[in-house]
Amino acid sequence: MFLTVDPELNKQRRRQLGPTMGLANLKHMEPIIMAAGSKQLCSKWDRAIGQSKDGKTAKLCYHTDFMLMNFDIISSLGFGQAHRSLTSGDTQIVDWVHTTFVLMYLQGLFPFIKSKVFRQFIIKPLYDKYDAFFAVGTQAIEKRKQLLSNLKPGDSKPKDLLQSYIDAEDPESRIRMTSGQVATETINGLMAGSDTSSTNLTATT
Ligand code: HEM
Repeated sequence: MFLTVDPELNKQRRRQLGPTMGLANLKHMEPIIMAAGSKQLCSKWDRAIGQSKDGKTAKLCYHTDFMLMNFDIISSLGFGQAHRSLTSGDTQIVDWVHTTFVLMYLQGLFPFIKSKVFRQFIIKPLYDKYDAFFAVGTQAIEKRKQLLSNLKPGDSKPKDLLQSYIDAEDPESRIRMTSGQVATETINGLMAGSDTSSTNLTATT
């Protein structure tokens, strides 16, 4: 997770990312948000009700479903391709996010576990999972850059978080984010945006 106590770097990242989260930009992402979000959720719940004994009632854990839906929305927007863990039941990203949280807290409490010996031996399974997660982010960027290089005149760029992060530029320094920084921001979004949103949706429901 990206954290900094350097005020200049902090401001630079805010200037880079600010426009991404503006309503005007998010509006363009609505089709992806709807497809991974409420449409997927309604299909799943309608299917469960349809397959139930009386065809009217189904037993669901709406907190888990909201959580998976939010992972799907942010993963689809940040990794540039459709993620449907809510439908498929594949909890790989949930597992990666969980591991990243564990690693982050452990590093906060015991900074020495960032050392090579911990990374390569003692808690290697945790670091391996984080590396796999991060690799998905950087591969998504490579794939997107390839897609962009094949765009024909008149074709528009995809409208998602991945593209916004790739294009993000600090208006003052003209500095853009590196691939590693873009991948980190997507992971950051998954960590910051999933249980916050699902807990709110659960409380509202
Ligand atoms: C209802 C849902 C959400 C709640 C209640 C919530 C709550 C919060 C709170 C309380 C903070 C700390 C603000 C501060 O200390 O200044 C925060 C920061 C943050 N949130 Fe959320 N959040 C939600 C959704 C999201 C989503 C969907 C994302 C991303 C996809 C996200 C990404 C972030 C990030 C990156 C920060 C750090 C911002 C910064 O330091 O500039 N959050 N959120």
